[in-house]
Amino acid sequence: MPIYSEKVMDHFMNPRNVGEIENPDGIGEVGNPVCGDMMTFYIKVKDNRLEDVKFKTFGCGAAIAVSSMVSEMAKGKTLEEARKITPQLVADELEGLPKNKFHCSNLGAQALSKAIDDYLSKKNKGGKK
Ligand code: FES
Repeated sequence: MPIYSEKVMDHFMNPRNVGEIENPDGIGEVGNPVCGDMMTFYIKVKDNRLEDVKFKTFGCGAAIAVSSMVSEMAKGKTLEEARKITPQLVADELEGLPKNKFHCSNLGAQALSKAIDDYLSKKNKGGKK
């Protein structure tokens, strides 16, 4: 049984920003085929900033804590700043993750990045906003 920091437990028990955004500007979905966990991020963008970030995670406790932390870290940031949220930064903010749970923090950064890609590709197509 891995030992989790208090911060991980807090974000696991009371995850922030859970849910879906209606008409999101970008959606990013990732999954880990090994553990089967899935994570979806929804973003709302205004003036190149992440105005709102929400997520739905079907996964382990660490994945839920990671999603919650990523959503908090990303909110209010510019797209460029949000891209700089690395799995290591997320793990640090959570005061560490057990080694065998590090892959869970990869999912968070990946899902957010994918949501930003989705937003940018829609925007570049000049299509639906
Ligand atoms: Fe796979 Fe945590 S065990 S995301």
